[in-house]
Amino acid sequence: MKSALAVAAPTRNIHLIKWVEKTAELTRPDAIHWVDGSQEEYEELLRQMVASGTLTKLNQKTWPGCYLARSDADDVARVEDRTFICSLSKDSAGPTNNWENPYTMRRKLKEKFAGCMRGRTMYVLAFGMGPIGSRMSQIGVELTDSPYVVANMRIMTRIGLEVFKEIDKDEKRVVPCIHSVGMPLAPGQKEVPWPCNKEKYIVHFPESREIWSYGSGYGGNALLGKKCFALRIASNIARDEGWMAEHMLIVGVESPEGEKTYVAAAFPSACGKTNFAMMVPPKGFEGWKVWTVGDDIAWIKPDAEGRLHAINPEAGFFGVAPGTSTATNPNAMATLSRNTIFTNVAQTPDGGVWWEGMTEKPPAECIDWKGQRWTPEIGKTGRKAAHPNARFTAPASQCPTIDAAWEDPNGVPISAIIFGGRRATNIPLIYQAFNWSAGVYMGATMGSEMTAAAAGEVGKVRRDPMAMLPFCGYHMGDYFRHWIKMQRSLSQTPRVFHVNWFRKDKDGNFIWPGYRENMRVLKWIVDRVRGRAQGKETPIGWTPHYEDINWKGLNFPKERFEQLQAVDRVAWRSEVIGHEELFILLHAHLPSELIYERELLICRL
Ligand code: GTP
Ligand code: SPV
Ligand code: MN
Repeated sequence: MKSALAVAAPTRNIHLIKWVEKTAELTRPDAIHWVDGSQEEYEELLRQMVASGTLTKLNQKTWPGCYLARSDADDVARVEDRTFICSLSKDSAGPTNNWENPYTMRRKLKEKFAGCMRGRTMYVLAFGMGPIGSRMSQIGVELTDSPYVVANMRIMTRIGLEVFKEIDKDEKRVVPCIHSVGMPLAPGQKEVPWPCNKEKYIVHFPESREIWSYGSGYGGNALLGKKCFALRIASNIARDEGWMAEHMLIVGVESPEGEKTYVAAAFPSACGKTNFAMMVPPKGFEGWKVWTVGDDIAWIKPDAEGRLHAINPEAGFFGVAPGTSTATNPNAMATLSRNTIFTNVAQTPDGGVWWEGMTEKPPAECIDWKGQRWTPEIGKTGRKAAHPNARFTAPASQCPTIDAAWEDPNGVPISAIIFGGRRATNIPLIYQAFNWSAGVYMGATMGSEMTAAAAGEVGKVRRDPMAMLPFCGYHMGDYFRHWIKMQRSLSQTPRVFHVNWFRKDKDGNFIWPGYRENMRVLKWIVDRVRGRAQGKETPIGWTPHYEDINWKGLNFPKERFEQLQAVDRVAWRSEVIGHEELFILLHAHLPSELIYERELLICRL
């Protein structure tokens, strides 16, 4: 006889139903809810969360469909030191990941998850990463006791009945994800606005392609389709199947003549991907358009002709709020103007939102992200109204510059890959790698100052290879080898570039105005790809002459450009020693190509 659960389930997949039953036996939720993904269901979840205090409904006249969440003060960002890759052997995870024996970890997780959903509902959330039905897409099911996660995942991924249908259609493997905020409710126990647990575990089992997350309700810790699946697990799948799962934005650059060039760019967390992905061309670029395909993750696969094609596995943006304004990113502002869930921004007296950098003048008063009164006077003491990692969750379809092909099941053709970091010194605004292996070296040795996107030492420069340090689900040396090997399946490799918007002068000011002015750099990249632009050879790669950049509409003197582009050989020698530290850490798995590239670089320096 069919169990009550199987009768209620919108799927016939017996393995899935059994797994849901087994997880419920372990976690003991009061109820099980199969998420259908409908608007009515979404609105009911929002209503419940307003009632429980998790969400505040914003002024629906000025912010239609928008809600605000304030998280627990200790649950505001990814927790890299609590993130684990539990491969069978420690060596497979590599020295840049936390590892624990999978048997030990499973035992620990079983303890933690035993009864952890008591007093709550367990949601069965089927989600698709990438356009439904695309050969490049994947499917996951997240069991979670957080309605906040369900609501955010509805924006960030494709969820509900259409995905269950997809699961039933073929034997496509589903990635099982289990998530709990880790705060069971005893009968009569009072709910808190943001349930979570001090002890957190973000755990990946790469061989069995499983994710278990405990104790956090925030962002990449809890929306398991994002970093856990689309990067850490997908990087493992991609290595096995010959494609790439990358921490990259995707944009299409359209010239006045209508020529379209797609590029992907890897910048570390909170280093400008969303801004770059929604760029508005500046004065002097009349007729140019930048179209948005994705702002955070790219799945890149060679097509039958050996050209790389990329899809955005996500359906929404989980973007950094502070610094976002109509001046810096009008397209993001338009995107988040409705149907958006804000987390840890400030609330204005008229039921709107505010964050540092949103307007030049702060509101006379507001409620800060901790729920306390905030005034510009208080702001002068350094206390922020919005948390530096405050974010908006908004549907990608609302972006005014969303690309016509953003849901193309075949993806878009990638002509260039751009690496970039946040570096006050040494690294020029723009340079191009001599070839693919030099480009892999360039990405592998990238450095960046740490940001508030992860708990840690903000401002400290660390090596963040391909912006994947916190997201590569296996040994970083093997990941480099995979990049090198990709060349063999390609008829034409994308050109590889490095940018740095963040170089500072001796007074500590950014030399480069950034934001939409980055278009000037992007155009040189497109021109190089198309074989139209000149370049100058330097020890680290090709760079533009001053004259190779379109300066129309911006007064940027040649001396300042030279300052931005300067390659200081002495400083670069210590830079190479920084590369070497990473290479020593990875040496047993390091592909020899990267060692040769380092030698060549040293010779040129
Ligand atoms: P994740 O979502 O964490 O992966 O980050 P992201 O790379 O999408 O970051 P985002 O675009 O949200 O950038 C966040 C920060 O970078 C904000 O503080 C911006 O103001 C700043 N930023 C973005 N572009 C530029 C730029 O061109 N110049 C300068 N100086 N700052 C920039
Ligand atoms: C990042 O930190 O790179 C993000 C935000 O994109 S989170 O999803 O929280 O990881
Ligand atoms: Mn990111």
